[in-house]
Formats: sequence, C-alpha cells, structure tokens
Amino acid sequence: MTTQLPLPGFPGRGGPGTPPPPRIDGARELVDTYGRVARDLRVSLTDRCNLRCTYCMPAEGLEWLPTEASLTDEEVIRLITIAVTRLGIRQIRFTGGEPLLRKSLEKIIAATTALRTDEGQPVSTALTTNGLGLPRRLPGLQEAGLERVNISLDTLDRERYTRLTRRDRLPDVLAAIDAAVAAGMHPVKVNSVIMPGVNEADIVPLAEYCLDRGAQLRFIEQMPLGPRDKWRREDMVTADQILEQLRTAFVLSPAEEPRGAAPAALWEARGVDKQELHGSIGVIASVTRPFCGDCDRTRLTTDGAIRTCLFSRTETSLRELIRGGAGDAELAAIWAGAMWGKLPGHGIDDPGFLQPDRPMSAIGG
Ligand code: 5AD
Ligand code: SF4
Repeated sequence: MTTQLPLPGFPGRGGPGTPPPPRIDGARELVDTYGRVARDLRVSLTDRCNLRCTYCMPAEGLEWLPTEASLTDEEVIRLITIAVTRLGIRQIRFTGGEPLLRKSLEKIIAATTALRTDEGQPVSTALTTNGLGLPRRLPGLQEAGLERVNISLDTLDRERYTRLTRRDRLPDVLAAIDAAVAAGMHPVKVNSVIMPGVNEADIVPLAEYCLDRGAQLRFIEQMPLGPRDKWRREDMVTADQILEQLRTAFVLSPAEEPRGAAPAALWEARGVDKQELHGSIGVIASVTRPFCGDCDRTRLTTDGAIRTCLFSRTETSLRELIRGGAGDAELAAIWAGAMWGKLPGHGIDDPGFLQPDRPMSAIGG
C-alpha cells in the first residue's frame, strides 16, 4: 500500500475518504482531492518501439498489445475531444512506445489542433519521440499543427548508443535533431536519462552538442519504470551530481525563480572555456526533488485506460465503456472521478514502493 503523505501547500486536505466533488456529473475540470487541476494530457499512441532502450524494455519477450486492444483513431480522437472540450485540457503530448510508429499520427494531431480549449485557444501539441524517421514526417506533422518535439538522446557515442538502445541508429537521431531545428520547431528539446556506470561521461558533451545547435537539453533523473534490475535508489545519478558535472564546463545561473527552497529546474549555462556556447539546460529531479504537488497531468494509454500518474498501480479503462456505447458526458464523469482519486505523489521513497505493472513503453513518457 502506498503511504499517503500530506502535500506541501495542502495541509490536511485530500486522501482516501475525501467526499467526491459536488458535481462530478457535470465536471468541467479534472480536479483531485489535493486541489491540483490537470491541464496536460499525455496520450500514448502505441506500446511498440523500434529501439529497445535497456532502461525501458527487455531485449526480447515483451508482448505487444493485440490490435483490437488498442484504441482506434476514432476512439482516441473522441477521448481527446472530451478531454479538451469538457474537461479543461489545454495541452496534449503524444508519446508511445514510439508515437511515429502510429501511421495515423498526423491525422490524430490535426484533429487535436482543430479543437479549442475552455479559454478559446488552440490546444498546444507536443511529441516525445526517439527521432527515428522524424525528418521525413516533419512536414506533415507541422502541417497538422504540431508545435513542439522532445527527442530522446542519452549519448553521443555511437557504440554506447548502440549498447543502450540495442540498435545502431545514432546518426538517424542526430539527423532528427537537425531537421527539427531547421524546420523551426521551437523549442526543440532533447531528453537525456543518465545512468550510473553507463553514460555519466556524456553529460558535458551532450550539453555542448545541444547548446551548439540551439536545442534545449533536459536531463531527467532515471525513475524506477523499466526492467526491475535497472534501478537502485542508492546508485542512481542525481540531479545534483549532474549539475556538478555541468559546472566543470559551464557557469550556471537559475533561469527561473526557484520554487521555495528547491533549486531551479532550468539553468542558464555559459561555457567556461567555450564562451560562445550559451543557452538553457533543464535538470529534472523527478526522484530527489519530486514536483508531484504541482503535477497537472493525466494520461491515456494505448488501450484506453486513464492513469492519474506514471506510477499508478491502478487505472480506469474507458475502452469497454466506449465500445459499449457510453455517451460523452458519462465518459467525462468517469474520467473526472478517476482523477479525483489521484494520489499525492509517486511514493518512490516510501518503504512499500512498488513499480507500476506496465512497462514504461506501455504507459508513455
Ligand atoms: N526514467 C526517466 N525517464 C525515462 N524515459 C524512459 N524511461 C525512463 C525512466 N525510467 C524517458 C525516455 C524518453 C521519455 C519517453 O521518457 O528517455 O525521453
Ligand atoms: Fe523506445 Fe523510448 Fe522505450 Fe527507448 S525509451 S525503447 S525509444 S519507448
């Protein structure tokens, strides 16, 4: 069982047994018992991937979802429409597995960008991708209205990349970053996960590479989501260790107001020797300084389940309801009800912490 800790800023609120919100049937927002409101929806469009990153997937033996278990394009678009027009979602990120493997990605994005939020604005759209095949899809994705991309890249060393992802595709990823920058996607973000004994030596080179190209690098602390032998709290590489490495080559100053005592997540960096290198770098301390109290996310899996958190151990499937003829208002009410029960935090540091049953590739980053 997950321990319920009071959230900073929400003393005494929330938790199991908190009565349901007054009018969940006519819900206009995805609010939880701790007062957080979800505005950001992450939609996983496939559990498949053309890489096999060691921290995400086993080399083999992972079963894909059968086709009929996945939501159809119409079902995904319907749920996105409900989220935006009835539940206050303003931003949507498409993930996977690898979302470029979904052939209808452009169609789903176009349907999304045609929607207007509760504030009358277009929905902001982003894609988290490993970059393989991105260059030739970019024109179509931009035409569909895609605004931003996050490309995953954990090393610049070809051999290490091949070992890490079990595929020799580094040149394709680098081409994807260049293509996204050239296409004027702004900002182009690059996500790096740093693992002990694997790619610590890449921290500075990755930073130099991205600053040089005008891409925004974000280091993300590795979370316990992949194969169970790939993460140990004691030897994970922390945000502080990443910053320490960065400071060997860059002067760092906070790029935004630090929240309370917490150090900034975004830093302005300038090269110590290479002064022409400057720009912002993110360091996301998901494990050592969790930001669950500010979380504004809700998730939809490929097979139509709502997850309130990456780490949820329960989920609420909407698929059979849709296929059984449920109306929009009913689906919205069930989604709102699921979010109402969102736990205060990921609980990674709780003694009884258990990883989610689904692998990361089937949840969506
Ligand atoms: N911890 C942190 N980030 C992860 N990602 C995948 N697995 C993990 C993990 N265990 C990242 C990938 C990619 C995004 C989908 O999530 O590097 O950028
Ligand atoms: Fe594929 Fe992303 Fe998982 Fe790597 S981390 S195997 S790119 S889904």
